[in-house]
Formats: sequence, structure tokens, C-alpha cells
Amino acid sequence: MTLALHVEDTTGTRSRGLADLFELFWHPVCTVDELAAVAPRPLAVRLLGRDLAIARTDGDLVALADRCVHRSARLSVGWVDGAAVRCAYHGWAFGGDGRCTEIPSMPDGPIPERACVPSYEAAERHGLVWVRFDDSADTSIPAHPAHERVAASPGSMRIVVGEPYTWPVGAPRRVENFVDLAHFAWVHDGTLGRRDDPVPPLPTIARVDGELRFAYDPPDMDVEDTALFGHSEYRMPVPLTVSIEFWLSNGAYRHLWMTASPVDMATCRTFWTVSRDDDLDGDDAPHMAFQAQVLAEDEPVVCNQVPREMVLEPGFELSVRTDRVSIEYRRWLSQLVAALADGPQGVRRVLNSCR
Ligand code: FES
Ligand SMILES: [Fe+2]
Repeated sequence: MTLALHVEDTTGTRSRGLADLFELFWHPVCTVDELAAVAPRPLAVRLLGRDLAIARTDGDLVALADRCVHRSARLSVGWVDGAAVRCAYHGWAFGGDGRCTEIPSMPDGPIPERACVPSYEAAERHGLVWVRFDDSADTSIPAHPAHERVAASPGSMRIVVGEPYTWPVGAPRRVENFVDLAHFAWVHDGTLGRRDDPVPPLPTIARVDGELRFAYDPPDMDVEDTALFGHSEYRMPVPLTVSIEFWLSNGAYRHLWMTASPVDMATCRTFWTVSRDDDLDGDDAPHMAFQAQVLAEDEPVVCNQVPREMVLEPGFELSVRTDRVSIEYRRWLSQLVAALADGPQGVRRVLNSCR
């Protein structure tokens, strides 16, 4: 019998449905600070395989295709000029809607009808710049519980922004790793789990208000005060965001939030925060050192999954009973992809479904 295990990198083919699905969602493309650091130049980013020039023009956030319609220079090597992004090559100016507003070599016009570049919705939230390609499913930027707590009670939490990191793995695989309870004992032996206690709990997974939710209690083990360790409530408000609230045994409340942004279907950039309501004036370094250790344990494994993209075809990988969360996550993704056949309303219907 031949084992049908395909290990070739099939980037962009097997995950076409997921790529179409993700067009309907908001994704972070950079931090607000990263954008400010290059001003007045736009920032070059990549989302779902498309190169974008992100800019803040006269207060407006703008996301344009990073290719001038004239001679294909990248707009990201141009600069912001008032309400426009100006191309560095011949100085054409483009407004936030992508329309060319000026051709310096032809001050009397006309500006051709075709003189425009694709433009996309852009918004700022949680210190990040978010872009959505397609608004037809009316999706929302995911909430951030720690930011909400701070908005309601300023100073009540310390929110530390992790350094975004790019891994050569598809965003759904990165997210799945975050909610994979069976790997804690194995990959994070002594950090988040114990190899001598490898059987994870099988949480009940609920869909509430369009989110996937479940609770988790870690095994008994001694951990540093800086560990995110305690009764945990996981929420996935959209398929590429995970929000985990922790109640530590010492009474502290902590929060870990991550969104994996699909650079392409085999590469993702993770944006994340770690927040706490204790040790408010303390040093962030030991808290972030714990996170660095967890990431260092995950990376060599997660970044060596082949293919790099997630493949939803039944039977492509083998799931077992203890993969309950991942099975449910994949079922959710599969339902959303299947719903694309009914158009954006189908996707909305799955997002709104409860069980
Ligand atoms: S290439 Fe952009 S103005 Fe010519
Ligand atoms: Fe992990």
C-alpha cells in the first residue's frame, strides 16, 4: 500500500479557498510605529501575495497597490505629498482612492481614465494598521480585551507590544499551533506542559457571537511568575486571531493576543501583545523573556511543517481524538471556505452561527 503523504510545497494551490476567504477579513499589515518610522515615505508590506504601499496622507490611512500604473515603479519608494502619494519616478500623484490627481509632465491634462491604482480599505486599531481587500462579508477588526479594559479603566493594565515576527508558514498553521493543546507537553516540556503528562484535556468548544471559544486548565507544575499560566479562556474572534485570558493562582489577570497576518499562504507575520494587571511598574524584560522562550521552542517545529500552507483536504493529515481544538478550528475554516460558494452572505451566515 502506498502512503499518500505529499510533502512537496504546493504553495498557493491547495489553499486557494482559504486565500479567497481571507480576502473578506481585516488583517494587520504593520504597526503604527513602523509606519511612522518611514514617513514621509509609504511602507512596503505584503498581504495575501499582494504588494502594498501603506501611507498616512494628511491624516488618512491609505493602502495602495505598490505599483505605479505608469512605468511600474513601486509607490513605496515615493513619498506622501499632502493628500496624495507621489511616485518617485515621474512624480504622478495618487489619492487615497487610487485615482491619479496630477501628472507633472502634463500640467494641462488630460489625466487618463485608466490612471489609477488599486486601493483598499485601511484602518488603525490596537496600535496596528489593518487592511481589508473585500468588504462584502461585513467582517470586523477583532476586539482586544486588554485594550478594552484600559479604555474603561486607564492604567489598569500594562500592554506590552511584542516584536512582530515573520515565519515561513501559513497563517492558519501558526494559529492552529497557538490552540494546539497536545503540543504543550511535548514542545514546551517544562515551560507550558510536562512530557510525563502528555494527555491534554478535551475542552468543549463553543461558537458564541461568531467566535470559537474554549477554556483550558494547565497541568500542575512550578512555573516562573512571568509565565502565562493558569485557568485560560481562549477566544478566536476571527479565523486568524487568538485572544487568551489567564487567571493566575495569585489572582493576577493576564492576556495574550495574537493575529497571524497572511503575507501569502505559506508565510505569515504575527502581531502580538502580552498584557498584565499585576507588576504594573515592573520590568517587562522577564515577561517577554518567557514569551521568547515559548517562541524559540515552537519555531523549529512549526516552521518545518510541509507543505508550509494549511491543507484542508480530508485525509491529507491524520487527526486523532486529542486534536479536538484543531479539528474544530479546521471544521470552522472548511465551513467558511465552503460557504464562499454562496457568496459573502454564506460566510456571514457561518460566522453568525452558534452551536
Ligand atoms: S512610474 Fe510612476 S510616475 Fe512614472
Ligand atoms: Fe507552542
